[in-house]
Amino acid sequence: MTVEDDTLAGYTIAAGAIVLLSPYVTHRHPAVWEAPERFDPDRFAPARAAARPTMAYFPFGGGPRRCIGSGFATLEMQLIVTAVVQRYRLTLVSGACVSPTAGLTLRPSPAVPSWLHPLRGEREHRDEHRDHRA
Ligand code: HEM
Repeated sequence: MTVEDDTLAGYTIAAGAIVLLSPYVTHRHPAVWEAPERFDPDRFAPARAAARPTMAYFPFGGGPRRCIGSGFATLEMQLIVTAVVQRYRLTLVSGACVSPTAGLTLRPSPAVPSWLHPLRGEREHRDEHRDHRA
């Protein structure tokens, strides 16, 4: 909530107004992101990230109330994704249509129906577990 009258990008904002920021829109803004809809993890490479305004990307909010768990959450996501893709090849179930649903957080709707194809044989997995128990 704003504490006093202000002008932002030509818009007059009265004191007491509630201003919402949309990560969905900002994270796809073509003025800031090159080919925003393209899957391009390299866009987060340090040199390219440094060329963008700080708040162009704010999944964890910003300022003094920024998410306290951002470092933990980022590390956890990297560990989980790495552990899964080292063991399985994922493919979307044919014909599945995934679309985003806005709520408190943005989620795929209704889900992401996927096949997980083991990258190694079942037998090797069993042997590995037996070795751990030994
Ligand atoms: C992908 C995972 C997560 C996302 C996207 C996320 C996102 C956010 C966002 C957007 C905020 C509000 C920031 C603001 O007001 O500017 C927030 C606050 C907060 N988050 Fe997270 N968060 C995540 C995981 C976590 C985890 C794992 C923890 C704890 C271990 C955590 C603890 C908190 C706390 C305590 C706040 C309130 C901070 C405050 O008001 O001072 N979050 N988070």
